[in-house]
Amino acid sequence: MSVPTIFDISKEGRGSFRLPRLDVPNTCNGLPENLRRQNTPTLPQVSELDVVRHYTKLSTMAFGVDNGFYPLGSCTMKYNPKVNEQVASLSGFTDIHPLQDASTVQGCLGVMHDLLKQLCAVTGMDWGTLQPCAGAHGEYTGLKIIRSYFLEKGDVTRTKILVPESAHGTNPASAAVNGFEVVQVMADKRGLVDLDDLKSKLGPDVAGIMLTNPSTLGLFEQDILEIASLVHGAGGLLYYDGANLNAILGKARPGDMGFDVVHLNLHKTFSTPHGGGGPGSGPVMVKKALCAFLPKPDVVENANGDYSFDWGCKSSIGKVSTFWGNFLVFLKAYAFILAMGGEGLKECGENAVLNANYILARLKGMYDVPYGDRCMHEFVMSLSRLKEETGVTAIDVAKGLLDRGYHPPTMYFPMIVHEALMIEPTESESKETLDDFCDAMIELHDIAYKDAQSLRNAPEHTVIGRVDEVMAAKNPVVHQ
Ligand SMILES: Cc1ncc(COP(=O)(O)O)c(C=O)c1O
Repeated sequence: MSVPTIFDISKEGRGSFRLPRLDVPNTCNGLPENLRRQNTPTLPQVSELDVVRHYTKLSTMAFGVDNGFYPLGSCTMKYNPKVNEQVASLSGFTDIHPLQDASTVQGCLGVMHDLLKQLCAVTGMDWGTLQPCAGAHGEYTGLKIIRSYFLEKGDVTRTKILVPESAHGTNPASAAVNGFEVVQVMADKRGLVDLDDLKSKLGPDVAGIMLTNPSTLGLFEQDILEIASLVHGAGGLLYYDGANLNAILGKARPGDMGFDVVHLNLHKTFSTPHGGGGPGSGPVMVKKALCAFLPKPDVVENANGDYSFDWGCKSSIGKVSTFWGNFLVFLKAYAFILAMGGEGLKECGENAVLNANYILARLKGMYDVPYGDRCMHEFVMSLSRLKEETGVTAIDVAKGLLDRGYHPPTMYFPMIVHEALMIEPTESESKETLDDFCDAMIELHDIAYKDAQSLRNAPEHTVIGRVDEVMAAKNPVVHQ
């Protein structure tokens, strides 16, 4: 089914706009000739009703959490309460300007200050910054802080950052962008950090290690206290990639595990949708010894209860964002945290883990799950055996899911699992939805053995059928 564009349905003379009569002097004549348009633009001419129908139809073709299950591992595509969007659209927040005098936006500064306090409580850290606008931006900021910390001590030899095999791709990238040499740490049989390999790589040239706990395999690093003591013992620091905090919300805190720097993705765990290119926020939280290096300005509470920006910056890494970060995302996170409360956040973490384990338990007899009988908020299955026995690949199964109305899981990541599908249901899904999804996965497994070809042709019930994934990535055609 091909969908006509707004230009395809254009009919000469059917334009539906009416401009108000000009009631100010026409200054266009003052424009230099070379800057004036020579021809009228070829805009689509469509009646108002056709415009409404066209865009309404397009809006129903976009897949989102509001119209279907979206188990995209490591992305936490969960439902975000609409009330938090309402909070972020209150005119008292949207009609202000970031350069307004602090005395006229005390409420906003108060929200930022209190949000940082709440995030400290959630992570077990001492203070932080809300400036970074994405997870990767948080990593960049956190590593810059680590770098400055060592440089100020005169320790110029710590040029390496350790990153486990299963790490999210942004981790080594952020380390490299900060000028560090990236050294990979191998996983052991359990899929956890291999302690012997770690020990062999620690030394006076290591600035720190970046860890996601639970890892992208959905496994909790059980040896985290030993890892922390080994890294600290060698003079390095621990960086916690908290993009996927759902799994431990209210249950465990990176600060208590020994981490020195943490970033969070508010646009996953704290009520802003992840994906789709919308605004995000990747606050960075640190332990006391690193507070002096945080970006400026900081929001401070004065003795009289007022808030102000503190620009003092002897050791600060400087400013890492325009203005103060993505303020409307802070509001949604703040509203979410206040509405959930400590107990609610804990329940959210528990349900995220319970839901993932429910799917794991239903599917593991059929699909191979190489690491772990139990998982945290997500797990990774390998379709290598299915591929060997039937020729059906992870991508074929993903396309089959599209035909059944599901967004596919994350595919082919992490790299240490072959033919990987990484499933993260999140806490917001009901048992019925999880069961329907498991039934679809079981049906696809059956079809793989009975009629593999039909899966190679999938999807057949979507607007666009099987695309050439490589061409689509390398040569995207996004307009006609
Ligand atoms: C584990 C992990 N770290 C870092 C990131 C990067 O976050 P962002 O996409 O906001 O840059 C992600 C994003 O999915 C992630 O899953």
